[in-house]
Amino acid sequence: MGLGRQRDGLAPTPPMGWNSWNRFQTAIDERLVRETAEAMVESGMKDAGYRYVVIDDGWEAKARNAEGDLESDPDRFGSGIADLAGRVHALGLRFGIYTDAGTATCQGFPASLGNEARDARRFASWGVDYVKVDWCHTEGLRGRTQYPIWTEAFRSAGRPMVLSICEWGRDRPWEWGPTTGHLWRTCWDIQDSWASLIGVIDHQRGLGAHGGPDGWNDPDMLEVGNGGMTPDEYRAHFSLWCVLAAPLMAGNDVRAMTDEVRAILTAPEPIAVDQDPLGRQGDLVRAERSCEVWARELQGGGRAVVLFNRSPRSEEAVVRWTDLGWGPQDRARVRDLWERADRGTFTEAYSATVPTHGAVMLRLARPD
Ligand code: GLA
Repeated sequence: MGLGRQRDGLAPTPPMGWNSWNRFQTAIDERLVRETAEAMVESGMKDAGYRYVVIDDGWEAKARNAEGDLESDPDRFGSGIADLAGRVHALGLRFGIYTDAGTATCQGFPASLGNEARDARRFASWGVDYVKVDWCHTEGLRGRTQYPIWTEAFRSAGRPMVLSICEWGRDRPWEWGPTTGHLWRTCWDIQDSWASLIGVIDHQRGLGAHGGPDGWNDPDMLEVGNGGMTPDEYRAHFSLWCVLAAPLMAGNDVRAMTDEVRAILTAPEPIAVDQDPLGRQGDLVRAERSCEVWARELQGGGRAVVLFNRSPRSEEAVVRWTDLGWGPQDRARVRDLWERADRGTFTEAYSATVPTHGAVMLRLARPD
């Protein structure tokens, strides 16, 4: 686990919220953020646990102001960020923002290199609760030396703010992230396609030991509801994020989502796995043909299991108790979390038919 963890209690379970980037890129304004925050309440997202409303790249004015501070775009965020954060807070939600550790953001807006303490104070004065710090235009710098500057800047700014490290896994952030921030991206940007999802998932193996309370591996924000994948593919995406104890940052238009998308994003039993208080991240425990088994220990000794089918056909997948550290004779109750159905008590193994590009998500408990 590297240097140990910071335990400030800001992210005891993986952060949940919404971020503007995946759906809107830089086409954002204060109205979108206000409407999204309201929709999070009305749609049941807030009740399901989503808290942070985060604006990504594109909120900034083209230059710092005369005092040297970051400013919001005067046309698109004319009421100012403090006003916007206040409106989000009034709905019982938290507000997040974006900057970059280098000389410019990925979209070419002013970034924070050399201004970390100043910008952290600015964010704190606006009432910001969460800051994503990106890694474009950082030539010659290393994540493990730059991000601790932010840790310190947040401390001296005097407002608790979640630090979302976004350096794409370049400098093995799982080694130093736990002492530095609350979540860290493990790889490049996700796209709204099956091929991209597979590429991201293949980069999460073996990282399970590094995630835990107040410091989480971040395989990137959710694409659920953006239209490029099937409902089964989105359920697989969401299931894997939950077994990985990943931050759940919705990335769709929550003002206009279908009932099917809402049902995935607010599914209580998968979310309870993601937010399990033990905070143990899962990992790959078995791969057979095109089926994978990912598993995670839960509070109380149970297990969450995802049977994940990567093939273009439906497949029979099996989890063996020995994959989970249990003996073959142990009895375990099995519940299907998407179907919300108890399947009975089994010994040795459980198998299920998994749809193409889909997942079956289970909770296993040994009777007392
Ligand atoms: C990088 C990040 C993305 C997003 C964009 C914004 O690509 O990894 O998540 O923040 O920048 O420009």
